[in-house]
Amino acid sequence: MIGEPRFRQERLGQQHDRASFKCTREETLERYLTDPGRAARENKRNVSAVYVLLDTTQGDRIAGYFTISNTTLIPALVPVDVAKKLLRYDSWGAVKLGRMARHDEYDGLGLESILIVRAFSVVLSVAEQSGSLALVVDAKNETLAAWYVNQGFRNLPESPLTLFITNAQMAAYVKALTSAGEP
Ligand SMILES: CC(C)(COP(=O)(O)OP(=O)(O)OC[C@H]1O[C@@H](n2cnc3c(N)ncnc32)[C@H](O)[C@@H]1OP(=O)(O)O)[C@@H](O)C(=O)NCCC(=O)NCCS
Repeated sequence: MIGEPRFRQERLGQQHDRASFKCTREETLERYLTDPGRAARENKRNVSAVYVLLDTTQGDRIAGYFTISNTTLIPALVPVDVAKKLLRYDSWGAVKLGRMARHDEYDGLGLESILIVRAFSVVLSVAEQSGSLALVVDAKNETLAAWYVNQGFRNLPESPLTLFITNAQMAAYVKALTSAGEP
């Protein structure tokens, strides 16, 4: 798995040091993890599955995290070239990337590529067990929407801050990054 052995991925648990997580650029994403109980409660109740990347060289400090939950994608809102290749249901099963953030200390070290590949890998494993065609994300703003486009996501034409990427594209991304070596 990309980022190993330094970065170990685990589902959030009581043993993790949530309090030391720093994300000054987006404090709501820092507080989601550090506030007593919030991420832990949602994770425990399966509202969201919270995954942490632990830096094994820093005493298992949380270097980044992402959250995954189930959602649907409405075919009528997807670009026509994608929609026409897929079956005509009112909605498709999909997975949502609810939150994703990197600890301030890892700015410029390529951790974002590890986070996104790990998120894609979780989503692809969900799709092996349950119908799910794509990963969907609501970007916080236009800059971040452009960042997701750079990772291969596409905007929904009528709501450009919502983006998606298909399973096939995620699989190709994981393969390309894995064969290129770690960032
Ligand atoms: C999202 C993230 C993992 C991307 O890491 P990265 O590939 O190293 O990219 P950068 O940190 O350089 O961010 C890309 C651009 O988005 C901007 N950006 C990042 N987070 C931002 C935020 N919360 N609000 C506004 N702009 C933000 C950066 O300033 C940068 O803009 P620029 O290209 O004009 O310089 C990382 O920026 C991060 O953890 N951000 C804070 C958490 C966050 O906002 N997550 C929301 C995801 S919707």
